[in-house]
Amino acid sequence: MKIAIVREQADGERRVAATPETVKKFGALGADVAIEAGAGLHASIADADYAAAGATVADRAATVANADIILGVQGPAPDSLAGAKPGAWIVAGLNPFGAGDDGRARIDAYAAAGYEALAMEFMPRITRAQSMDILSSQSNLSGYKAVLDAAAEYGRAFPMMMTAAGTVSAAKLFVMGVGVAGLQAIATARRLGAQVSATDVRAATKEQIESLGAKAIFVEKVAGIEGEGAGGYATEMSDEYKAAQAELVSGHIARQDIVITTALIPGRPAPRLISDAQIATMKPGSVIVDLAVEQGGNVEGAVAGEIVERHGVKIVGHRNMPSRLAADTSALFARNLYNFLSAFWDKEKNAPVLDDEIGTAIRLTQGGKIVNERLLAS
Ligand code: NAI
Repeated sequence: MKIAIVREQADGERRVAATPETVKKFGALGADVAIEAGAGLHASIADADYAAAGATVADRAATVANADIILGVQGPAPDSLAGAKPGAWIVAGLNPFGAGDDGRARIDAYAAAGYEALAMEFMPRITRAQSMDILSSQSNLSGYKAVLDAAAEYGRAFPMMMTAAGTVSAAKLFVMGVGVAGLQAIATARRLGAQVSATDVRAATKEQIESLGAKAIFVEKVAGIEGEGAGGYATEMSDEYKAAQAELVSGHIARQDIVITTALIPGRPAPRLISDAQIATMKPGSVIVDLAVEQGGNVEGAVAGEIVERHGVKIVGHRNMPSRLAADTSALFARNLYNFLSAFWDKEKNAPVLDDEIGTAIRLTQGGKIVNERLLAS
């Protein structure tokens, strides 16, 4: 059993899919591990540290030669995998709904080449899979980093400070979308001393917001609102709800210094939460960070990969937020992969054997075909 870890090739991707810790653990399971030279460089891990943990460090061709399992953060280019075993597993965040070469086209190419592609972001949200959930592990640190990015762009302090020269008032920070990233953003902003409020469509988040010491801003008057669909994710809201939410948010947003948006709806573009007219009501020098910018954006005018200014307000749209904390996000991503493969490791076969529930959810290709329901339905 050979596990290969490839160096990420996507622009701006600094993460790596294994650490010396997980290399060692795969070795203890009975696998041989090969890693492409330089794979950990941008996550502060030297080739020598992988070698010391038992990995063979080699070029791409030698790394993937005869591999049974190939691990990546993002899906590796299909034509860079020549020499891997027929039917080899490709385990990574595979972006199967993405347009272009690194989206669905890549999955089709994996199928054509006979690889079995396993999309880690399709991991079901069940208790036993929590430690394998890359969306949670990466979003957590994204929420933290979004607050630091906001603080860096904001020309004022976050905490209230009483000095001999007078008082500096606390920044007012509003989090829209209180999933994993939003909860961490609230906690981080509170630690920095901001006055924090937050909103979500899922009623269950109200208590979570309050337990972190923030103020919950909720649409109360629309009947039949729950907002929670399958797997604990949000659902698309009614037009009536959206209008009520826009009115509530308009009043609130004009008084905020910082807004962090994280709202996503699975399989759909991100919901638009802030309009240009609302931005115009904010004070000059305010900052908005749109964590959903790559899924279409929660904020009108946000541009992926850029910081733009509208009405004196900075709108931050960094791409690939987890990559901005590559050492920590890589460590968590690598553990997610190890937790996944080791949970299914069959000692006699010296290989992982998936069960139906998780296999069906994450397997995209098998036997030369697309086999995943979500892809077949799209
Ligand atoms: P997400 O990344 O899909 O969305 C972020 C947040 O945006 C969610 O809280 C969602 O309700 C909110 N949102 C969507 N539309 C909105 C709108 N129009 N206005 C305001 N907010 C809006 O969500 P994430 O972070 O993946 O978490 C979703 C839930 O799943 C959470 O309750 C989380 O605790 C749960 N979860 C469960 C896991 C497990 O059991 N294994 C693992 C990870 C998360």
